[in-house]
Amino acid sequence: MCGIVGYIGHRNVSDFLIEGLNRLEYRGYDSAGVATFDANGAISLRKRAGRVCELSEAIDRDPVEGTVGIGHTRWATHGKATDENAHPHTGGNGEVVLVHNGVIENYASLRGQLQALGYVFRTETDTEVIAHLIAHHLDEQIKLGGEPESEDTLLKAVEVSLRKLKGTYGLAVLFRARPDLILAARNGSPLVVGVGPGEHFVASDPSPLLGYTEQVVYLADHEIAILTADRLDLRHRDSGRLSPSVQTLDQVSADIDKGDFEHYMLKEIFEQPQTIENAMRGRFEEDEATAKFGGLNLTAQQLRHIDRIVLTACGTSWHAALVGEYLIEEFARVPVEVEYASELRYRNPPLTDKTMVFAITQSGETADTLAAMRECQRKGMPSLAICNVVGSTIAREADGGVYLHAGPEIGVASTKAFTSQVTVLTLLALYFGRMRHLSYQAGKRMINNLKALPEVVARTLECHDAVQEIASRYLGMDNFLYLGRLYNFPVALEGALKLKEISYVHAEGYPAAEMKHGPIALIDERTPSVFVVPRCGIYPKVISNMEEVKARKGPVIAIACEGDREVADVADDVIYVPEVDEYLQPIVTSIPLQMLAYHIALLRGCNVDRPRNLAKSVTVE
Ligand code: M6R
Repeated sequence: MCGIVGYIGHRNVSDFLIEGLNRLEYRGYDSAGVATFDANGAISLRKRAGRVCELSEAIDRDPVEGTVGIGHTRWATHGKATDENAHPHTGGNGEVVLVHNGVIENYASLRGQLQALGYVFRTETDTEVIAHLIAHHLDEQIKLGGEPESEDTLLKAVEVSLRKLKGTYGLAVLFRARPDLILAARNGSPLVVGVGPGEHFVASDPSPLLGYTEQVVYLADHEIAILTADRLDLRHRDSGRLSPSVQTLDQVSADIDKGDFEHYMLKEIFEQPQTIENAMRGRFEEDEATAKFGGLNLTAQQLRHIDRIVLTACGTSWHAALVGEYLIEEFARVPVEVEYASELRYRNPPLTDKTMVFAITQSGETADTLAAMRECQRKGMPSLAICNVVGSTIAREADGGVYLHAGPEIGVASTKAFTSQVTVLTLLALYFGRMRHLSYQAGKRMINNLKALPEVVARTLECHDAVQEIASRYLGMDNFLYLGRLYNFPVALEGALKLKEISYVHAEGYPAAEMKHGPIALIDERTPSVFVVPRCGIYPKVISNMEEVKARKGPVIAIACEGDREVADVADDVIYVPEVDEYLQPIVTSIPLQMLAYHIALLRGCNVDRPRNLAKSVTVE
C-alpha cells in the first residue's frame, strides 16, 4: 500500500518519478506527490489529491527540475485524500522532506510531544510525525556539535528517530542541507534500491526500475540505505555497516505493458494458459509420477514426518488455500487447515514441529500474511511460501517455497495469480500424495491432466463473448449470490469477491446447499444466483439447489460443462466451459467468473484496474 519512488543521478527526475508513480499506482491511488531538488539546491514540492495523471498535469503546468527527487502515490490510512495529506511531508522548517509507506501506531503521542516542543502540524497524517521527529533530532545533533551537512549527523538523527517509531515504514528522505543524497529506510514496508552507473533508484517494488537497471538490492527490516549518485551505503540499525547484496532482476519492462488490452485485468485473464504452464514448467518427475520442487529446502524424510499442513493467506490467496485444502486432503491424506493470516497472527492454535505452514501470497508483501508466517517461524514450524513476486519479503523470509512465475499482476483484482496458486497447490498435492498413499497410476493420470491444462484453459477463454453478453443483461442487479459445492465452493467465494471489489455490487459466496440455512431469504426476481455447476459426483444435488432458487423466482446464471443440456433446462443463462476432472475444475470455472466481474464492472462505469478504496498490496494491518 502506497508506492514510493526516488532517484538520484543524471536523468530528468520529474520524468522518472512520474513514470515510476504510474507503474506503482496499483499500490494506492488517492493522491500523489513529488519533491525534487532544483539546480540551486532548493526543494520543490508538488502534491495532488487524485490519480497520478492529475499530479502529472499539475507538473506539466508548473514543472519541477533537477536530477534528484522522491515521489509517492498514496492509499490513505490517517487523514482524508486531500492535497495537504498527500506526500511528501515536510519536517521542521523544511529541513527534512519525506515519503512514507506504512502506519505509525504511536503517532498520536509523538505528535503531542512534538507539538509541545513547538512543531506545527499541517496535515492529519501519521507521516508528518516522522518528518518533524527527524527534523527535531537533526536539530539536537547539531546542538551536540554535529555538522548540519555531515552525513553522520543526518544518519544519527534518522536512527534516533526510527527507534522511537512503533509500527511500519518504508521511507525515502531528502535533507535540505544535502541535495546530493537520499536516505531510504525500511521496517515492515518493502523497499528496493536500483543500482546503475552514476545513479541510484529506490522504489517500493522493482516495477519503476524496469528499463533503467537490472541490478537491485532488497532492503531488509531495520536497514538504512544512503544513496548518492555514485555510492550506496547500507547500514543495519544494530549491526552497523553492511555490504549490499546485489541481485539481478528477471523482469523486463514489457511485462508491465497492457499490450493491446484495454485493462490489465483483461490482459491477465487472457494470460492464464501461459501462466499456468509457467507454474508447472520443470516441475514434473515423470519417471516417478510425481512433482518436483527446487526450493522447498526440506528433505523427503522431513516432509514425510509432517502430519498437518496449515495454509495461511488473505483474500483471493485465501480462496486458493481453500482449494488447496481439498486437494491435499484428497490426494495426500494429510489434514489441512486454512487460516486467515489476520487471525492466525494473533491466535494460538496448537501447532507442532510436525506442522508445516504455507503462506500463500501473490505479492509476498501482505502485512498479515507476513506476520502470520513470522509467528509460525517463531514457534519453530517450517514455514514456506507460495509466492509470485520474486525477492518479496515473504519470499525472502520463508524457509523455502515455490514461485508462481506468473509475471507481474497489476490489476488490483487478482486473476492469474489465483489459477497459478491452485496449479502449484495441485502439484504439491501430487508430491505429498506420491510420498504417501497415491499410486503410480494415479500420479501419472494427474500429470497427464495437468499437462493438458494450458490448452483446456485456452479453450475456456472462448466463453468471453458469451460472458460479455450475459453481463449486459445483469448489470442493473445490485445483489448476487455465488453458489458452488466441494471444489467449486471456493470458486463461488472467489467469484463473489471479484464482483464486489471491482463493480461495488454486493455479492455473497456460499456452499450451494448452505443457502437453505439463511441466504435463501434473499432470493427474489432481482437477486441472481451464479451457480458453479460443472459435472461432478454431487452434480444432481447442485441441480436441486438451482431448482430451489428458480422456485423462488430467482434468476440463475450457471457455469457448466460443454454440452450440458440438463443445466440449460433450469438456468436462465449458461456459460459453458470444458469438462475436466473435479480437482481441476476451480482453474477452469473461476475464469468465466473473472470475466463476468470484469464486464459488469466495465458496464457500470467502474475503474476495473483501480477499484475505489483498494490497493494491490496490503502492507498495513
Ligand atoms: O498479495 P496477496 O496474495 O497476499 O494479496 C492478498 C489479498 O490482498 C488479495 O488477494 C486481494 O484480496 C485481491 N484484491 C483480490 O482480488
